[in-house]
Amino acid sequence: MNGLAKICWITAPIYAVLGMIFGVVMAASGDHTLAPAHGHLNLLGWATIALYGTFYTLVPKAAESRVAKLQVLLAELGVLVIVPGIAMAVMGQGEGLAKAGSLLILAGMLLFAVTVMRSVGSGPVRA
Ligand code: HEM
Ligand code: HEM
Repeated sequence: MNGLAKICWITAPIYAVLGMIFGVVMAASGDHTLAPAHGHLNLLGWATIALYGTFYTLVPKAAESRVAKLQVLLAELGVLVIVPGIAMAVMGQGEGLAKAGSLLILAGMLLFAVTVMRSVGSGPVRA
């Protein structure tokens, strides 16, 4: 497995475990106020990063480009910024961090689209 896929596959389950603990604590306490932060930690941290890892595992050549490395960096930073950002926004403590996180996540996804388009047909699994 290449380095980029490894980074995705190591961080995604960490986000999943944290997101699920978050969910269990929320369910146990009966206070669902922070549900959007929990949901997006799971969706952007676990599901999305795991999908990136799957792609870089299936098409290892795509992981060699600088755009791909920047793509994963933006996606990972995005999760770390948007999750506390959503929690702060929900608690009325400002939306700045959530906005910054959204832009990082969006930039990461745009670069992913570029990476996929550039590498179509170059891996063992042909798109
Ligand atoms: C141990 C596992 C999990 C537990 C105990 C848990 C628990 C919860 C609870 C209590 C809520 C609030 C429900 C409500 O107020 O209506 C919630 C919402 C949500 N959860 Fe989870 N969850 C878990 C895993 C996941 C996973 C793996 C995902 C996604 C891949 C996920 C995505 C969501 C989403 C999208 C919401 C709605 C967020 C919103 O209202 O904005 N959860 N979860
Ligand atoms: C830049 C990225 C994203 C931003 C800024 C964003 C923003 C939002 C916002 C503002 C809400 C409404 C929260 C509320 O009403 O409390 C929401 C809900 C939700 N989002 Fe996202 N989202 C993003 C990415 C995603 C992704 C990638 C997924 C799925 C993989 C997703 C799934 C959901 C779900 C399931 C809900 C809850 C819908 C519901 O409760 O009816 N979001 N999102």
